[in-house]
Amino acid sequence: MKDLWVEKYRPKTVDGYVFRDEAQKAQVKTWIKDKTIPHLLFSGNAGIGKTTLAKLLFNELEINDLDILEINASRTNSVDDVRDKIVNFVQMIPFGDFKVVLLDEADYLSPNAQAALRGVMEEYHTTARFILTCNYPNRVIPALHSRCQGFHIAKIDQTEFTARVAEILITEGVTPDLDTLDTYVKATYPDLRKCINTVQMNCQDGSLLRPNEGDTGEADWKLDMVELFKAGKIQEARKLLCGAVRPEEMEEIYRWLYDNIELFGDDANQDQAVLFIKQGLVDHTLVADPEINLAATLIRLASIK
Ligand SMILES: Nc1ncnc2c1ncn2[C@@H]1O[C@H](COP(=O)(O)OP(=O)(O)O)[C@@H](O)[C@H]1O
Ligand SMILES: [Mg+2]
Repeated sequence: MKDLWVEKYRPKTVDGYVFRDEAQKAQVKTWIKDKTIPHLLFSGNAGIGKTTLAKLLFNELEINDLDILEINASRTNSVDDVRDKIVNFVQMIPFGDFKVVLLDEADYLSPNAQAALRGVMEEYHTTARFILTCNYPNRVIPALHSRCQGFHIAKIDQTEFTARVAEILITEGVTPDLDTLDTYVKATYPDLRKCINTVQMNCQDGSLLRPNEGDTGEADWKLDMVELFKAGKIQEARKLLCGAVRPEEMEEIYRWLYDNIELFGDDANQDQAVLFIKQGLVDHTLVADPEINLAATLIRLASIK
């Protein structure tokens, strides 16, 4: 089986990790220098490096594998499961200075399970550290927030994002056509995991195929959207979207449009587009029919060009 690039190119050191914020990089370096971490809560979008940062810390702090427990809360989320697993682990004496529990996707834990966790964190705080990750910090109970240092991981900018994916391609011997690469970037940003995976699936014989050239069996409205937008076919994009998008994805579309504002042309056009997108998003939660609102927003956006 081919190696998964997301694993192969997961940075293991601070210098390999792309930081958005220099202050955060300095903070991470301080923990490494001091050989310790507080309890941490990493938040941010999917695929932007939360788990990677946790694993990087384990590596840089030279934590013994036997002192690390990884739990994905989206899979194990009953109160008893979580408490039993964690308590059994943290009550053993650590091999190194402390044990660490990486609780990925902690926002999937029920409030009860989170409350149980808080008790465990308190009881074992001298011998164990917790790193929690989540997409939605508002779904983590205040009692956990107050026991962890919050660390919000902002998305890296699109240029750095593109550079990171290009670097991987080049290391793999693929010289990407930049416009094609850009299409994948726009369809997946800011989810770096998704971008790396999608690009890997669409590489064949040393080249990066255009989205519909290969047959990966993965239908992705965002890829089709980027292609239509680039071709100026916004009306067609509207038809595609309104047919393909599930109601719970709609809000994401406004954010996605906003992240890719340069698809709309020069600065003046972009300003206009921002207004339409913001209006669309505000109305989204108010109107009776969000689908019509989305279609109307796209019609307005199409009128810009
Ligand atoms: N800041 C970053 N610097 C370099 N690579 C990154 C960064 N963030 C994510 N990646 C890449 O994206 C993949 C997914 O990141 P991951 O940490 O699993 O995301 P999540 O935030 O969902 O936990 C990693 O395997 C790595 O290859
Ligand atoms: Mg993760």
